[in-house]
Amino acid sequence: MKTPISPLIAAVFLLFAVVSLPPPSAKALGGSSSTLAVVYGSATTICSIVAQQPVQQIQCWQGGLLLPPILPITSFEGIAGGRDTLCGVLSGGLRLLCWDTTTFFLKRIYNSTTTSLTSLTIGDTEICALTNVTSPENAICWRPYRVPASGNSRFSMISSGYEFSCGILEDKNRVLCWGSNNNFSSFIQSEFSNLSITNIQVGGRHACGIDDSGFVVCKGNNDTGQLKVPWNVANEYGALALGENHTCAIRRLNRTVICWGGNGEISSNVTDGISFESIVASSNFSCGLTTINFSVICWGTGWPNSSGIELPLQKTLPWPCVETSCKCNVYPDSSTLCSGNGHICRPCDDDLSIPVTPPSFLPPPPDISSPPSSPSRGLRRGLLALAIVGLVGGLVGICTVAYCLWTGVCFGKKKIHNSVQPTMTAANAAQQSSSTQSSRSSTLRRQGSILMRRQRSGTSSKQPDRAEEFLFSELVSATNNFALENKIGGGSFGGVYKGKLHDGREVAIKRGDTGSKAKKFQEKESAFESELAFLSRLHHKHLVGLIGYCEEKDERLLVYEYMKNGSLHDHLHGKSNVVKSSSVVDSWKIRIKISLDAARGIEYLHNYAVPPIIHRDIKSSNILLDENFIARVSDFGLSLNGPENGREFRPMKAAGTIGYIDPEYYGLNVLTAKSDVYGLGVVLLELLTGKKAIFKDAENGGSPISLVDYAVPAIKAGELTKILDVRVGPPETNESEAVELMANTAVHCVPLEGKDRLTMSDVVVNLERALALCDDRRGSFSSGPISIISD
Ligand SMILES: *[C@@H]1O[C@H](CO)[C@@H](O)[C@H](O)[C@H]1NC(C)=O
Ligand SMILES: *[C@@H]1O[C@H](CO)[C@@H](O)[C@H](O)[C@H]1NC(C)=O
Ligand SMILES: *[C@@H]1O[C@H](CO)[C@@H](O)[C@H](O)[C@H]1NC(C)=O
Ligand SMILES: *[C@@H]1O[C@H](CO)[C@@H](O)[C@H](O)[C@H]1NC(C)=O
Ligand SMILES: *[C@@H]1O[C@H](CO)[C@@H](O)[C@H](O)[C@H]1NC(C)=O
Ligand SMILES: *[C@@H]1O[C@H](CO)[C@@H](O)[C@H](O)[C@H]1NC(C)=O
Ligand SMILES: *[C@@H]1O[C@H](CO)[C@@H](O)[C@H](O)[C@H]1NC(C)=O
Ligand SMILES: *[C@@H]1O[C@H](CO)[C@@H](O)[C@H](O)[C@H]1NC(C)=O
Ligand SMILES: *[C@@H]1O[C@H](CO)[C@@H](O)[C@H](O)[C@H]1NC(C)=O
Ligand SMILES: *[C@@H]1O[C@H](CO)[C@@H](O)[C@H](O)[C@H]1NC(C)=O
Ligand SMILES: *[C@@H]1O[C@H](CO)[C@@H](O)[C@H](O)[C@H]1NC(C)=O
Repeated sequence: MKTPISPLIAAVFLLFAVVSLPPPSAKALGGSSSTLAVVYGSATTICSIVAQQPVQQIQCWQGGLLLPPILPITSFEGIAGGRDTLCGVLSGGLRLLCWDTTTFFLKRIYNSTTTSLTSLTIGDTEICALTNVTSPENAICWRPYRVPASGNSRFSMISSGYEFSCGILEDKNRVLCWGSNNNFSSFIQSEFSNLSITNIQVGGRHACGIDDSGFVVCKGNNDTGQLKVPWNVANEYGALALGENHTCAIRRLNRTVICWGGNGEISSNVTDGISFESIVASSNFSCGLTTINFSVICWGTGWPNSSGIELPLQKTLPWPCVETSCKCNVYPDSSTLCSGNGHICRPCDDDLSIPVTPPSFLPPPPDISSPPSSPSRGLRRGLLALAIVGLVGGLVGICTVAYCLWTGVCFGKKKIHNSVQPTMTAANAAQQSSSTQSSRSSTLRRQGSILMRRQRSGTSSKQPDRAEEFLFSELVSATNNFALENKIGGGSFGGVYKGKLHDGREVAIKRGDTGSKAKKFQEKESAFESELAFLSRLHHKHLVGLIGYCEEKDERLLVYEYMKNGSLHDHLHGKSNVVKSSSVVDSWKIRIKISLDAARGIEYLHNYAVPPIIHRDIKSSNILLDENFIARVSDFGLSLNGPENGREFRPMKAAGTIGYIDPEYYGLNVLTAKSDVYGLGVVLLELLTGKKAIFKDAENGGSPISLVDYAVPAIKAGELTKILDVRVGPPETNESEAVELMANTAVHCVPLEGKDRLTMSDVVVNLERALALCDDRRGSFSSGPISIISD
């Protein structure tokens, strides 16, 4: 029934039913109750708790009409909606009322004098709540399915979906699931079994959580892409809302909403640029409470567009009004919003606990950190925090200047960052066009890069667009006939020699074995040449450029740019000729910078080279450092081109190095871009621990152990500090969060299955954020003068 009359009658009836209940005691609910609810099924109904009224009553919208208040003199703390069901917890938490929204008849009442409800969730078949009892049995579900015994542990959060419910056990952050589809709920539970989850939401046949390092993890059915978290960066997302086939999340940085899944039909541009306090999902649409004026907006395929976007509801409370003190922050102006009936607590995880920098498409730190033209509220809060730590910042700023001086990255050179081909994702591209300031600075940078190229072509005779072909005799004289003292590397393939061409260019010359390998090349001579031509056109700041080649008789040589500071492997694991400069690498900030540089180079290969390239052999000895200690990825030459359209492919020859090799590749002989992510993950662990990819562990009786097996459990157990490289020394206050983020990123690069790993773009953004954290506490100070320079 869609007329407002029957609910009105029901409301009057309920009014009498409820006023006879004892007055609610003022006791707080926990953070997870919502003030906004959607009811789906036979009559789409949206309800919320009104703000700035003497009574925190429920208002509902149904079928285009605003219904009269359900219980006009009853204050509610939280509400939730499911299929044809709305429930509300009265202020104080001692009573729960539910309605069938087709008739607005009261369906169920929980009342207690001793036990209050601290959060409420409704799915298709279940109504569940947490109580404030001290015993472990703090979850109650009405309707048939029982909460499984949780042992000695209490739930910190529960969420009900369409076919099942899940909760998080307080002591270990483990996920427990139950429900009508027992098979499926146990499957979901097992998918989360190895993860430590701090926030979980259940949808149709999928569930998403936020793990303890801030990444969103989605498990279950992926038929409509509901598991494909876009732009998955640590601490990117706060609140989650899951529908039957879709997922929505609020970005913590600017509180805008992003939705995925539902075959892409659920996302909508009506939410562009709008900040939300909270979101809820219905089966096939979502609604959110706006920050600007607490109005309610709904969008999605299932949302009838005849209803408009903004509902004609009165101002809604952002979070429940409570009387108890807040665990985290009190909402601004909250006693006005509650009209004197208590105040509003922000959920702890709703706050930006780390000062995030905008994930800009150009790396802000270490030298440039320009806030977006219209900083969001969260960002401003972050800047305020920076201002408060300004005194500390001043000191760190001095160090930064020193850093700039020796790396040279602050002046001009920095401007060529990624400029040849911007490492820009779709999301970033959108940001670029939306922010005139950042596109302006990117123009500046691009101009800078042209300038740099011109300078470079001035000093070096030419910047070839194709591979230069060298005569063998030229290379013989460049290396003094491959003199031993010019040998800078070697391996099964032959040797690498430092050389000086007759025009003065310093180069690294890789001379292949003249035996079987050469024959293989000969067999595919033309393929070899065309691949060389292609590779020599790849220019990127974080790739070691291929200058040319030589093919004469049996000789096969490749000529690369020379990297003065050798390989990362040598710096980390020692080699007499680099030991003296290794102290440069003994800084957490430099190590993070190196890992970011390398990630950017690989990201370029994966996402911007056409066709894409999978490196296949990412390891610390393939990450070289130039004279400014800028890391560049080498040896991608002659990698097999990546599969088109991201399909897997099976290379003909095995690739990789023990310790770095993707276990999935090892096992299934399937090579994807995620194989490089694994390799880089191992390099990150090397940078963190200072240990080799495979090393002999004294504690382990001196038998070899893989770095992944050694480091990942320790990081997961929160014992990162125990395994950090002692040569660097403990991270300073401002660095420890950054090092932790780097470690968490590494952990998310090395799961056994490629689908569980981050993408290289995700890695880049996380490391950008980590690097920003290193400087940020001084960021507001040093960014000033430096941005003047870049103007
Ligand atoms: C639970 O809440 C009720 C009502 O607010 C209160 O009387 C009771 O003491 C609380 N119990 C615990 C264990 O905190
Ligand atoms: C409310 O609680 C009282 C006692 O605590 C009980 O007698 C009464 O039946 C309850 N009402 C409902 C509707 O459950
Ligand atoms: C439970 O799931 C397994 C595999 O996921 C399936 O083989 C089995 O048939 C399912 N059982 C029921 C009762 O759905
Ligand atoms: C992951 O969970 C499985 C059981 O589901 C267990 O055998 C395995 O040891 C766990 N792995 C880690 C790294 O915790
Ligand atoms: C989910 O499906 C999308 C395509 O719809 C795919 O790109 C993505 O990799 C899948 N994610 C997982 C975790 O399977
Ligand atoms: C939203 O997208 C549709 C098509 O996808 C387009 O026609 C419309 O103009 C867009 N609206 C805004 C406000 O960008
Ligand atoms: C919010 O941030 C996202 C990415 O972080 C960006 O794409 C979007 O444009 C931003 N929105 C606003 C209004 O700043
Ligand atoms: C969700 O997807 C399933 C299968 O893909 C489909 O049967 C169902 O109707 C979808 N639900 C909604 C609300 O779109
Ligand atoms: C809320 O703000 C939006 C955007 O500024 C505006 O369109 C809308 O009319 C406002 N709603 C109310 C109820 O003030
Ligand atoms: C949305 O889901 C409801 C069921 O919850 C269904 O009746 C409706 O047709 C769906 N709308 C669309 C556009 O899929
Ligand atoms: C509104 O819905 C109708 C049919 O449901 C559809 O054809 C139309 O494109 C929709 N309009 C907008 C602006 O989404």
